[in-house]
Amino acid sequence: MAERLDKILSSQGVATRSIAQRLIRSGKVSVNGAVVRDPSLKIEPSDCEILLEGKVLNYKKYVYIMMNKPSGLLCVSRDNKAPTVIDLLTEDFLRPGLFPAGRLDKDTVGLVIITNDGDFGHRILSPKKGIAKRYHAIVDGPVGEREIMAFSQGITLEDGTVCRPAGLKVLKDGANPLVEVEITEGKYHQVKRMFLSVGRRVLWLKRVSIGKLKLDERLREGDFREMTEEEMTLIFQ
Ligand code: URA
Repeated sequence: MAERLDKILSSQGVATRSIAQRLIRSGKVSVNGAVVRDPSLKIEPSDCEILLEGKVLNYKKYVYIMMNKPSGLLCVSRDNKAPTVIDLLTEDFLRPGLFPAGRLDKDTVGLVIITNDGDFGHRILSPKKGIAKRYHAIVDGPVGEREIMAFSQGITLEDGTVCRPAGLKVLKDGANPLVEVEITEGKYHQVKRMFLSVGRRVLWLKRVSIGKLKLDERLREGDFREMTEEEMTLIFQ
């Protein structure tokens, strides 16, 4: 779709809309070899070679970002009071319309996907698709056959909501065991509430995978990077 040149530049995270207009007016932008000074000129970005200050603009309509979310950030696009996962992104990743595809609680860490591709995000979230999300959790008491059985049968939450059957396994035994939980839906505080219904409190929670896509463990908490095409397909396998 043909779009205004200033909008195309700002959509690529290279400049705000007003700075893009200034750059264009001052002759710093060329399209197919010719300098363009009109920010409102409409072009089809994927069919044109756009140069900004002599450098080729690698136009991408959508970005797909993997983040290892740290604790303390809200998993929303914007909030007037508290910092969000979007606030962590550097300018080169910023685009209008970015949103996290799925919410983690403020104190939950781990895998978050951030994109400006609405269809992609909604496919991840669609309850019909039932994409498995795996979490590691530390809980405040022993986990054994009773809890594993209850999870596998489908937990009923305190408000009567019935959850789909979920996987639960113990990774490290003890008074505060490390466990792995697999759920295929995303109800509000779901993992914490499922544990509460079997008398356990979650002390720490990390999302480690979505579908077959695993969090890149080389990303430290707060780090993020663009996803590869292969990683994008892993989500839906
Ligand atoms: N379940 C929770 O309780 N919290 C999260 O952040 C994700 C799943």
